[in-house]
Amino acid sequence: MGSFKIQNNKILDQVEVKLGDRTYDIVIGNNLIEELEIYNLSSSEQIVIITDEVVSPLYLQKITNALGRLGFAFFSITIAAGETQKSLDNVGKIVGKLLSKKVSRDAMIIALGGGVVGDLAGFVASVYQRGIKFLQVPTTLLAQVDSSVGGKTAVNHSLGKNMIGAFHQPKKVIIDLATLGTLPSRELKSGYAEVIKYGCILDKDFFSWLENNVENLLNRSADHLAFAVKRSCEIKAEVVSLDEREGNSRALLNFGHTFGHAIESLAGYGVWLHGEAVGFGMILAAELSNQMGLIDKNSNERIRNIVAKFGLPVDWPNMDINQLVECMMVDKKFKNGNPKLILLKDLGVAKVISVNKNSIEKFLANHII
Ligand code: NAD
Ligand code: GLY
Repeated sequence: MGSFKIQNNKILDQVEVKLGDRTYDIVIGNNLIEELEIYNLSSSEQIVIITDEVVSPLYLQKITNALGRLGFAFFSITIAAGETQKSLDNVGKIVGKLLSKKVSRDAMIIALGGGVVGDLAGFVASVYQRGIKFLQVPTTLLAQVDSSVGGKTAVNHSLGKNMIGAFHQPKKVIIDLATLGTLPSRELKSGYAEVIKYGCILDKDFFSWLENNVENLLNRSADHLAFAVKRSCEIKAEVVSLDEREGNSRALLNFGHTFGHAIESLAGYGVWLHGEAVGFGMILAAELSNQMGLIDKNSNERIRNIVAKFGLPVDWPNMDINQLVECMMVDKKFKNGNPKLILLKDLGVAKVISVNKNSIEKFLANHII
């Protein structure tokens, strides 16, 4: 396929993220991790692989063996796993390691892991010596369909999720679908929340396809997963190409996220998985859309049902509403002091709407049964 030399149809699809001279490919296929031709590495660059303690024993050696065989200079950094690792403290530790190893400005970071590794390693790449190159090799469904694409990098602050970050695009995203074989089922379901999101905001047909294929998708049917990942990447790539810095339309990708981020940070990072919180946030956003006379009741129910069918939480967390709303107010999206929410006019048609803080409090108070 194309200029690649990979045999045995390992590459299934390529999606381009069009960003002028920073345009890059998302390469999707099976068993791609050890295929160094895809990485486009130069023998003169130092390579630093950042991964976590769960992914490392599963996949790190596949890359390091290949790098070693070809004589590349490389080393790896392994962090603990989980959302709490997306911290400024870890940024400092990783930068310290890079400096002690005399990593230069023309080095390449490879982020091997889920969204936590991708966001953290990407942020380090964006600030180390004012920015160095990085590649995304996402190994969770969530990272393959969302976080590895589009250049948002960040770490968390105790007062808010992703509050310290930068836009920094990867040179390439290499999606090895085979890695999903080892993903725990709870993590797989969490990834499907972001897949459902794309259907809700921009592609009604995709939403219907997901409704009709829940079982295959949860059973990890290779063909179904490949299509779900490809379609999600296509939608994300198009949105990012049109509005890289979230001046307007990229905000639609935050459907469910203002509620979701607040739940995640209020519960304590790592208690709710990101996709679980987004799934519940989408239910709330759809219901609010319905109450505000936007989306019809049937579509609203379809959203609740699909979130439930994918095994994501649909019951109210035991949380204080005032605290939840205060957490929402820390979110980055505001207009005239009120949060800008992504609401739905129809399935596949989303809109950014500024909603009064009191209205949100009232909606949440009435929502709790
Ligand atoms: P994660 O990175 O914590 O990964 C989930 C768990 O799965 C971890 O324990 C990890 O070690 C493990 N794991 C990873 N790959 C595995 C594999 N192949 N087999 C077995 N275990 C594996 O979480 P995530 O869901 O990938 O990412 C969530 C993060 O992504 C959140 O911090 C969220 O804010 C961020 N995010 C960022 C963007 C963005 O645009 N940058 C978009 C969406 C989400
Ligand atoms: N996940 C939201 C974005 O990439 O913009």
